[in-house]
Amino acid sequence: MASQKLVAVFGAYGHTGRFVVAELAARGYVPVPSGRHAQALRELAHDLGLEPRVATVEDADSLDRALAGAVAVINCAGPFATTTGPLIDAALRAKIPYLDVAAELEANLDTFAHHRERAHEAGTVIVPAMAFFGGLGDLLATAAMGDWPQADEVHIAYALSSWHPTAGTRLSGAVSRERRGDDVRLRYRAGQWERRTDAAPTLTWTFPHPTGPREVIGEFTMADVVTVAHHLSVPDVTTYMTVEAVRDVAAPHTPAPAATDPHGRSDQTFLVDAVVRSGGRERRATARGQDIYAVTAPLVVEALERVLTGRTRCTGVASAGEIFDAPDFLHALSPYLDLDLDLGRSQGA
Ligand SMILES: NC(=O)c1ccc[n+]([C@@H]2O[C@H](COP(=O)([O-])OP(=O)(O)OC[C@H]3O[C@@H](n4cnc5c(N)ncnc54)[C@H](OP(=O)(O)O)[C@@H]3O)[C@@H](O)[C@H]2O)c1
Repeated sequence: MASQKLVAVFGAYGHTGRFVVAELAARGYVPVPSGRHAQALRELAHDLGLEPRVATVEDADSLDRALAGAVAVINCAGPFATTTGPLIDAALRAKIPYLDVAAELEANLDTFAHHRERAHEAGTVIVPAMAFFGGLGDLLATAAMGDWPQADEVHIAYALSSWHPTAGTRLSGAVSRERRGDDVRLRYRAGQWERRTDAAPTLTWTFPHPTGPREVIGEFTMADVVTVAHHLSVPDVTTYMTVEAVRDVAAPHTPAPAATDPHGRSDQTFLVDAVVRSGGRERRATARGQDIYAVTAPLVVEALERVLTGRTRCTGVASAGEIFDAPDFLHALSPYLDLDLDLGRSQGA
């Protein structure tokens, strides 16, 4: 029972943070809204009858106060290049689990690279990218992989009906581009990260029925490439995005997501199609749902619940597919996801 368990949410009054706060409350936790903007925090906390804790990443004491008494912290404040390090340090001082929703490749890579030992020493867990990008694709790829100890390729293709980005998504994209250099993109091949300056390919990806063949940008490298490559023994990991969604997110005037249902979800729909290939055989797992920002809340809160109840496979810095039982986790999200987890196995793969 989650009752009276305080969970700090940094960036609580952001678009995604609000979904996370609501999901925590719905599951019986007591969200502790935190962030740097006192007025925005007070308004959110007042509406929900919660205790706001103002904190900034520049002031470690304020972060310690924000996390005091909490059993875990969820970081929803992006760009994560700025927030991840100070929040992880605070979580390690408090000896509590840290989860974030970062979809910034450089920040995700930094988290795996720089915090592993101290998290192990503290005996706690850090789960980066525990969200639509980074978490869901990793869980699907891990579930598809099943009992294969290794594979040749993982492909994760996204069909989004549209992509109306939040300010945070735009800012995180800009920070990532600045960190890697404007004309540089990353891809993961032969077990290595490559920095490339050529254009990403455009190709056709055949999604499961009824979506079917769609034009996608290949090597549209998302956080899933970091999380999958971190723990699955697969040399080539590639993500793809439908061209209309890429156009949406790149266009300067695409509006932010607007609520269209009582849960605050937009009308955006998604299909995530994970394909694993090994020695000419193929396994597949797919998930369909509504609103990539909203679905991040049940993903990260389900992860939190599993961490707090010891349903984990390791300590230290871990990705979703590594630390959780992927099929079991995905099935637990069936109120939010339409799943097909065993395409291919029925054909003897
Ligand atoms: N992996 C995924 O699938 C996934 C899903 C959802 C969101 N995200 C990521 O999560 C981040 C937030 O997204 P969003 O949709 O919630 O955006 P948003 O509505 O613009 O909210 C961003 C939040 O981050 C806070 N913030 C930014 N920089 C901060 C800093 N230096 N210190 C303290 N707070 C800071 C903002 O506070 P101020 O207003 O004070 O700046 C705001 O509360 C983005 O990076 C987005 O890409 C990823």
